[in-house]
Amino acid sequence: MRMYDIIAKKRDGGTLTEEEIQFFVGGYVAGEIPDYQASALLMAIFLKGMTPQETAQLTLCMAKSGDTVDLSAIEGVKVDKHSTGGVGDKTTLVVAPIVASLGVKVAKMSGRGLGHTGGTIDKMESIPGLRTDLNRERFFEIVRQVGCCVVGQTGNLVPADKKLYALRDVTATVNCLPLIASSIMSKKIAAGSDCILLDVKTGSGAFMKTVEDSIRLAQAMVEIGEHVGRRTVALITDMDRPLGRKIGNALEVQEVCDTLHGKGPQDLTEVCLDLAANMLHLAGKGEPDVCRELARAQIANGQGFAKFREMAAAQGGSTAVLDNPVLFAQADTVYEVPAQQDGWITAMDTEKCGIASVELGAGREKKEDTIDYSAGIELLKKTGDRVHKGEPVARFFAASRKKCAAAEACFAGAVTIGPTAPKPEQLVYARV
Ligand code: URA
Repeated sequence: MRMYDIIAKKRDGGTLTEEEIQFFVGGYVAGEIPDYQASALLMAIFLKGMTPQETAQLTLCMAKSGDTVDLSAIEGVKVDKHSTGGVGDKTTLVVAPIVASLGVKVAKMSGRGLGHTGGTIDKMESIPGLRTDLNRERFFEIVRQVGCCVVGQTGNLVPADKKLYALRDVTATVNCLPLIASSIMSKKIAAGSDCILLDVKTGSGAFMKTVEDSIRLAQAMVEIGEHVGRRTVALITDMDRPLGRKIGNALEVQEVCDTLHGKGPQDLTEVCLDLAANMLHLAGKGEPDVCRELARAQIANGQGFAKFREMAAAQGGSTAVLDNPVLFAQADTVYEVPAQQDGWITAMDTEKCGIASVELGAGREKKEDTIDYSAGIELLKKTGDRVHKGEPVARFFAASRKKCAAAEACFAGAVTIGPTAPKPEQLVYARV
């Protein structure tokens, strides 16, 4: 078999066989196929697409390219969740403890933030002492004892995705449905859970900007999940404005605590209840509307927060900051951003909000950048709110006034103020 022929076949619109896909993935991971040939095939896939069968085969070859996690040693149904990424998306930290407090195990591997989106692992590490680099034994032990544990991805999980994603990033082939679907689902399959809930974000802060594209991506991923025998459901949720009111690591953990105490922002609370309901439904706990009420009760009775506290403690984190969030490290500089005119906020460019938070120090532009856990944004106003000129719309937290000035430049273009109130936006657009 020759890589040249595989590239030519896809270039001409052909359908690759399982052997050809395996030849490519195996050869590329082993370093036998050079980047230039892999790039050519990625571009051919970008232009000609893949059949559902090819996408499933690519996903499976990628999933098997390195270590896989066997969770069968942990009793009970294990449910995973994946968000395609957003701004202010702290849902895992709300949902995993709620689901675990109802007896469904969540053994989750999460990522760090990159670019304008935040990552769950960075948010967790803003809790002093908390470790996300646990070995497999300790990870399993916490899942068994507590019911949920969230750790970083281990070194050799899906090496094919690590290499291919880096290559896609520099060859203009990221935004391609079969490549995104196989990238996400290979990691979910390798992570070993029985059921997978996908939170496919849509809107200005998401990877997929339209609901139609998000549904197509969701359908492709659900099909792959079902094909490999994992019960899979996707929700298409809004990312046309940041989720909740806080963006930035320690700030988001504080909002997680508020939400688990029943005092969180309405949009975040409702999306979390929908996600939790669908995870519980996948795990066989009943119909989604019944499960939603079960989840809501875990907020009202305090068991969701107690489980979050227990998970944080098991991972070495300080529970004192969770009980009393003023103990979180505080930013040196707090700056309020005024509205430029009277009116209603009609739109928010969520990606720009995310970039502003990175400017404040809450994210990293390059992998090696360090994060300021206390940095970020509190949104005092969001889409649909009435504002008056000069009134603060956001509060910035940063290490210096200079960082606030840089962030204000990004944020100014992120908020559109118009003369009339916009139509209310949906939080959940579809279930696939
Ligand atoms: N997230 C992933 O893990 N992979 C993609 O290709 C896109 C988003």
